[in-house]
Amino acid sequence: MHTDYDTIAKEYQASKLLPWRQHTEAYTFFKLIGNLEGLQVLDLACGEGFYTRQVMLRGASRAVGVDISAGMIQLAREAETSRPFGIQYHVCDVLELDLGQTFDLVCASYLLNYSRTAAEIGQMCAVISKHLKPGGRFVTINSNPDHRCPPGALRHYGFTRENESYQESAEVIYRFYQEDGSHIAVTNYHLEKKTHEAAFLKAGLTDVRWHSLELSPEGLQEFGSDYWKAIVDCQPVIGISCMKPR
Ligand SMILES: C[S@@+](CC[C@H](N)C(=O)[O-])C[C@H]1O[C@@H](n2cnc3c(N)ncnc32)[C@H](O)[C@@H]1O
Repeated sequence: MHTDYDTIAKEYQASKLLPWRQHTEAYTFFKLIGNLEGLQVLDLACGEGFYTRQVMLRGASRAVGVDISAGMIQLAREAETSRPFGIQYHVCDVLELDLGQTFDLVCASYLLNYSRTAAEIGQMCAVISKHLKPGGRFVTINSNPDHRCPPGALRHYGFTRENESYQESAEVIYRFYQEDGSHIAVTNYHLEKKTHEAAFLKAGLTDVRWHSLELSPEGLQEFGSDYWKAIVDCQPVIGISCMKPR
């Protein structure tokens, strides 16, 4: 069952404030992205614009955000109204996206893990490639296909992850817990690393690299190494980078 973010937009937005997001997810993502100065950026599956805004704050000259959920884009547009960055947002399924423009950087946090089949991830990579300038890069944070920890191993960070199995297309369920103990569930799909790599290569994207989740020095200092051990050991999410050749 595909996750309907319209019904959980605010709760998902709140989950972005958990320490692991800032000190592992965002830290790894922006380390991979590198210098954003002057870049034109397309943020796919942008949600409520959490990273789209940060891309602008970190020096991009222009950003466009795309998400399939009207509820998430509504939150993004509300944030844009209260603090304008000149970001354009579109409600669209990435599988059908054709903006007729190319970008220096296409980024996505948690897009590819919504593809259920090799054909779908192939189509997503074709869309990514179509929107990249020659020499442009794609950088993503994604559910890690190689994660094998027990479901509750990450509970003290405010979430859990369960794999139905490790067959292609199997469901991967994340539960994000609120302070009152209630939770929202988000479902994505397992595809092997080699399925991802084949899709990138077929779309003409090269130099495909996988990057471990890293911990920020500030996070280590604030919470200590014991706090971070489980997420660093389990690696529930992973970075990927690749490029479109010149
Ligand atoms: C886990 S959220 C991440 C949102 C945002 N990137 C972030 O990190 O805060 C995943 C997002 O992917 C969007 N999404 C899933 N499948 C999509 C598709 N085929 N096309 C566009 N957006 C999609 C969902 O609506 C949701 O907002």
